[in-house]
Amino acid sequence: MKIHLRVWRQNGPKAPGRLVDYTANDVSPDMSFLEMLDVVNEELIKKGEEPIAFDSDCREGICGACGFLINGRPHGPDAGTTTCQLHMRRFKDGDTLTLEPWRARAFPVLRDLVVDRTAFDRIIQASGFTSVNTGGAPDGNTVLIGKDTAERAMDAAQCIGCGACVAACKNASAALFTSAKITHLALLPQGEVERGARALGMVARMDAEGFGSCSNEGECEAVCPKGISLTNIARMNREFWRALLG
Ligand code: SF4
Ligand code: FES
Repeated sequence: MKIHLRVWRQNGPKAPGRLVDYTANDVSPDMSFLEMLDVVNEELIKKGEEPIAFDSDCREGICGACGFLINGRPHGPDAGTTTCQLHMRRFKDGDTLTLEPWRARAFPVLRDLVVDRTAFDRIIQASGFTSVNTGGAPDGNTVLIGKDTAERAMDAAQCIGCGACVAACKNASAALFTSAKITHLALLPQGEVERGARALGMVARMDAEGFGSCSNEGECEAVCPKGISLTNIARMNREFWRALLG
């Protein structure tokens, strides 16, 4: 397959960016999207040019490091799929794909397709944890948790912090990410002690980082590779008001 690429190239946070055209020849349908970019980069390095910068780590859909816009859609065209799990068989010979970094004020571009997502880390650092001393690891099933509650907590805990929800939102809101983190702890007894302070602290940090407000558009849920539900945002709002008025 031959794939035409239009890639956002930007040397640094303050440098101007522009779309540059490349052609990837001999692309195997079995390659992952990032493997295809690896091959393009090897060719660029051979020619003495700067390789395209992009983030990746696990390449198994679990770490959240990868992600950029492919033809305007975070993580590309497949639902429930991170960029690293997208395969070239999804595209046709001769396709033109435009690759751009996440576009959000709170995620400044560092270089090419790489953005600074440490704002997410600071939301977690604000209060997205439990600090009660729980002692040694308890035996499984010592603390009984209902099946439905455990399932809902685990569903929320699947968020990998990739930032696609922010990139898809017209308000660049981090509500889906923050609500997933608030929810998975709020549902479990271990998170109960700091439940109110956690909701207030994380929401305040989210706002301070420059993310926009949620206006229930739903793009975040549509592009989330882990299927994080909008219902988490409703829970975050409940947790916030409960803590504020309680
Ligand atoms: S909610 Fe989904 S899209 Fe947003 S950071 Fe978590 S996994 Fe990524
Ligand atoms: S590289 Fe880890 S989720 Fe894509």
